[in-house]
Amino acid sequence: MTAFGRLYGLGIGPGDPDLLTLKAHRILTTVPVIAYPTPENGKAIARAIVADFIRPDQIEIPLPLPFSVVRSAQPYYDSAAEKISGYLRAGQDVAVLCEGEPMLYGTFVYLFQRLAGRFPTEVVPGISSTMASAAMLGTPLTFRNDVLSIIPATLDAETLRDRLAVVDAAVIIKLGRHFAKVHTILDELGLLDRALYIERATQSNQRIVGITDVDPVEVSYWSLILIPSHSQPQ
Ligand SMILES: C[S@@+](CC[C@H](N)C(=O)[O-])C[C@H]1O[C@@H](n2cnc3c(N)ncnc32)[C@H](O)[C@@H]1O
Repeated sequence: MTAFGRLYGLGIGPGDPDLLTLKAHRILTTVPVIAYPTPENGKAIARAIVADFIRPDQIEIPLPLPFSVVRSAQPYYDSAAEKISGYLRAGQDVAVLCEGEPMLYGTFVYLFQRLAGRFPTEVVPGISSTMASAAMLGTPLTFRNDVLSIIPATLDAETLRDRLAVVDAAVIIKLGRHFAKVHTILDELGLLDRALYIERATQSNQRIVGITDVDPVEVSYWSLILIPSHSQPQ
């Protein structure tokens, strides 16, 4: 009987290919099969990050997966897991490309839930956009006993307000069409002066603009707001 292949959740960082770890690069360039999420419209960001390292003889499995909160995401993940398991059952190793860190709000967590109990699995950590953004914005995020909160903008306004009202430092992710709601709450809480906005951190088209200059209609899904700690210990 053929031994099962190994599933890799490959953290490939926030966009700059130079931010791939040596381990991710080694696995990426040696696995026979590479899988990656593709949005309904637009290009597969994860594939684009590592495009220069993919060889023509490697099998590619694009996985159509929802990038926004949808009610019935389950069938997409079931179908993606089924596709991948076909290769694993046949004894082929499969690397799933994960933008940033695989275990942090990544689509990979849903594949991990479905496959890790059935096949040998290894997750290779990646540099998260939440960490890379502080570096790109040139600001320390936390000092000493500060608590860092990572907050999805997709939360309802009341929950967002409650959470943001008590943060030392925060990263607000999944902005897109939720930007205006977040902006209003930051204004109400007097946090706008501290809020920093970044789009496509570390990618060649990275964009940093003042938060008041952001057009709410144009906000990319690949953007976040950082609220650095305001304690300034020496
Ligand atoms: C589903 S989460 C995945 C986070 C990813 N696993 C990570 O560790 O960065 C997607 C959100 O992360 C943020 N994000 C991911 N990559 C980004 C980048 N290069 N620049 C800015 N924000 C990014 C955006 O807020 C986006 O909506």
